[in-house]
Amino acid sequence: MDYKMELTPEQLALLNGEQGETMAKVVKTLVMYGEAFGATKMIPVTSEMGHLVTSFGLKVMTPVYDLMQQLIDAGLSSKQKFSVDPKPVDPKVPSNFAKNLVFNKFMYTKQDSYDEQLRKLGLVSDEAYTCTCYMNEVGNLPKKGDILSWAESSAVVYANSVLGARCNRNSGIIELFGSIAGFVPYFGLVTDEGRKATWIVEVKCKKKPEAQVLGSAIGMKVMEDVPYVKGLTDWIGTELDDDAKAYLKDFGAATASNGAVGLYHIEGLTPEAVEMGESLIAENAQVYVIDDAELERVKNSYPVMWKKPDKAPQLCFVGCPHLSLQQLKEWTDNVCEGLKKSGKKKVTIPTVFTAAPAVCDEFNKTEYAAKLAATGVTLSYICPLMYMNNPLAKMGRVITNSNKLRTYTTSRYYTSEEILDIITKGAK
Ligand code: F3S
Repeated sequence: MDYKMELTPEQLALLNGEQGETMAKVVKTLVMYGEAFGATKMIPVTSEMGHLVTSFGLKVMTPVYDLMQQLIDAGLSSKQKFSVDPKPVDPKVPSNFAKNLVFNKFMYTKQDSYDEQLRKLGLVSDEAYTCTCYMNEVGNLPKKGDILSWAESSAVVYANSVLGARCNRNSGIIELFGSIAGFVPYFGLVTDEGRKATWIVEVKCKKKPEAQVLGSAIGMKVMEDVPYVKGLTDWIGTELDDDAKAYLKDFGAATASNGAVGLYHIEGLTPEAVEMGESLIAENAQVYVIDDAELERVKNSYPVMWKKPDKAPQLCFVGCPHLSLQQLKEWTDNVCEGLKKSGKKKVTIPTVFTAAPAVCDEFNKTEYAAKLAATGVTLSYICPLMYMNNPLAKMGRVITNSNKLRTYTTSRYYTSEEILDIITKGAK
């Protein structure tokens, strides 16, 4: 094959079939992918673990299962153990006979066999299904400077920005190939140059900006560029504590889904911004000023896709990306408090909080678990997006505080405060 990038003798040997035809195809794919983005070489993946984005056994994905089987048959498990995105179905999540029929007979019919393939390829444990693999409880926590081969957009932007690791916004399968080969193409966000900010975002709000709306505004403005955000530490502090990390998780997922951001720098807070300050800003960077009115404008621009927008919501999802342990505890306190104030015992609509299985396990060991259960909220490990992919779920009136879920489905966005009001007091 024709290629311009520099390959080491070992990489070249793999490309030439030293470890078999399947490995050669894996490397060829990575080379072609790198060439398309102008990569100059391959660099070793250095993180302890990988993470795969494709976690669901959707019936129509036959090529993926065939490809996975070819890798397994060739004895090519991942060099790294990996975690994977959340599972699509949980019997605890409110559903009905027809929806379940679609889930189990038409949609995720390959889940069991696909789970088996994932195990054979290097899935670290049956509990490792979450998009927030970087939570302490889950343990896939890259170090600063680590080179990763991940694809889940919310995890990539978190790892790059909050942890200071280096990863491109790869697509599914490519990330597995990088983990199998042990190297990834050198371009974009794994290079120093690619990590420079081409946008300066000045946050000039008079109240704490909602993480998911601020992220959405920035994502829609800068698209795939790197923003350097000033003025946010006035609201979230200069310590990367649990609060700040949870805020940045939700903020980042919105930048990555409402735009295509893979890395952001927060002045005075995220590791590279703390270390390098404004030297991270590229020459001629553009400026975007965000105030309360701008956030309101962005929020009001979201389309409402319900057939009957005036009708009451029927289901609520909180936890996309998956909630942290602290967020779960805070939501529990807030729901209990809200219900007390409104004189109600249970949430007014079926409500599902989602978190990583390991986070749910930890939560269930605390006193909060019983409190949350008493409110009627369901705690689950699913990905709400995969639930919403069910055509029957799409027809329902679902609300969420997730801008990612809002973007990809018919669910309707409300801020966390509004969601709390709706589920504890009744429809707006
Ligand atoms: Fe995670 Fe699914 Fe949302 S993967 S970020 S819960 S769409």
